Amino acid sequence: MSGWQGTPFKVEVKSGEVKAFCMCGLSKSGPFCDGSHKGSGEKPEVIKFDADRSIMVCGCRQSKRRPLCDGSHNSL
Ligand code: FES
Repeated sequence: MSGWQGTPFKVEVKSGEVKAFCMCGLSKSGPFCDGSHKGSGEKPEVIKFDADRSIMVCGCRQSKRRPLCDGSHNSL
């Protein structure tokens, strides 16, 4: 997966898995943190998942629930 897109990313997560989601918008591996935030004052949102599931992760960077999608891409 590379870069950002105007629609959400469907991400499969497993119980016990830890993922770091980009919150600065600079990652070239959106929606995941690639370390590009260093020096920006921003930090990734690190989430440990407690169950296997599919999640919709914001790709447009407009969601108020980032890193999760809130449907904001529908109004862009
Ligand atoms: S690259 Fe954006 S938070 Fe790490």
